[in-house]
Amino acid sequence: MALTKREDFLALCKPMIGDEEVTAVVDILKSGWLTTGKAVKDFEQGVCDYTGAKHALGLMSCTGGLHMALAAHGVGPGDEVIVPTYTFVATAHVVTWLGATPVLVDSDPQTFNIDPAAIQKAITPKTKAIIPVHIAGNPCDMDAIMALAKQHKLVVIEDAAHALGTTYKGRKIGAIGDVTAFSFYAIKNMTTGEGGMLTTDDEALMTKLRRLAYFGVNKDAYDRYGKGGSWYYQVEGQGYKYNMDNIQGAMGVEQLKKLDTFNAKRTELAAAYTKRFSEIKGIRLQEIQEGGESCWHLFTIVIDEDTLGITRADLIDKLKEYNIGTSVHFIPLHLHPFYQEQYGYKEGDFPGAESVYKGLITLPLYPGMEEKDVEYVVEAIKEIIGV
Ligand SMILES: Cc1ncc(COP(=O)(O)O)c(C=O)c1O
Repeated sequence: MALTKREDFLALCKPMIGDEEVTAVVDILKSGWLTTGKAVKDFEQGVCDYTGAKHALGLMSCTGGLHMALAAHGVGPGDEVIVPTYTFVATAHVVTWLGATPVLVDSDPQTFNIDPAAIQKAITPKTKAIIPVHIAGNPCDMDAIMALAKQHKLVVIEDAAHALGTTYKGRKIGAIGDVTAFSFYAIKNMTTGEGGMLTTDDEALMTKLRRLAYFGVNKDAYDRYGKGGSWYYQVEGQGYKYNMDNIQGAMGVEQLKKLDTFNAKRTELAAAYTKRFSEIKGIRLQEIQEGGESCWHLFTIVIDEDTLGITRADLIDKLKEYNIGTSVHFIPLHLHPFYQEQYGYKEGDFPGAESVYKGLITLPLYPGMEEKDVEYVVEAIKEIIGV
């Protein structure tokens, strides 16, 4: 019997905003203190408690955090930074902003994460840092990466845009590398609209980062305009304008309280997808890193076009007819014109990442979904491919 097509659109993801966030934001709007303030401090403390990191810094984006983390380590012209080709452009663009060179490397076709063997091959005397990305919430092979970093005296800046709640060998992502950047962009596991955070155990580094987040000024707005604050400040160095505001902070505090519940639901839905897809030939799934637990930011499948007898593009179009939203995370960086023209990369350079990208489709996953939605997506795919 043919599947009845749903009339409402099953989105790829939806933010989960409740009355608690609405009340918290309205309270801030009425409070007279909109910029960086107590709500941001509370959110930072919450992320420290949650991840186990000693210090946290609320920001307007994860991208800003990655940019500052590189700047704080003095990365600049003549330096190389190792970045997986299989990631969102933010990870590598920040390297170019500082005049340094992003050195792209391949990813493991099973975990979709940066391949430590490829990192090792790419290290030169100019290498300053590595930016591992925990793709879709799947933790990278951090033991191998940290060992390489130690051996070659490199900084590890974790791009954990997808990974708040992910664990690696029993530890939450947040204080394994030298510094970690999280994102609270609208579709992330928890959101502040736009927003990000840096975490680290290194107090001296955090002092530098705080300055860099606000024009190199030695005090933030809270320290200057608050009751016990003082008007005097000094610009101690270069800096940007990346500070998180109190509206974002208040949302973050409320969302963080719900994060474990959100992630548990994501995990349950991912398990339901996994069980159903394991019976379908020609579809493979991301393998979770040994010793890791994903927070399931994204659920992806990789199709074998020949086995299924349909192209990825056609399958995506057909899923639209079933009112199912999809996406592709990610188009490897070396396939984009900018990275080809500026750095000479070309198709064929990174077979691991290309083999993932070629058949990859991101499917709907968010805590507001039910198992019947998962079933609908899988049944739609089965109907389209005729199994
Ligand atoms: C892997 C990765 N890194 C960094 C970012 C940037 O995050 P933000 O939008 O908070 O700057 C994203 C955004 O989605 C991402 O997917």
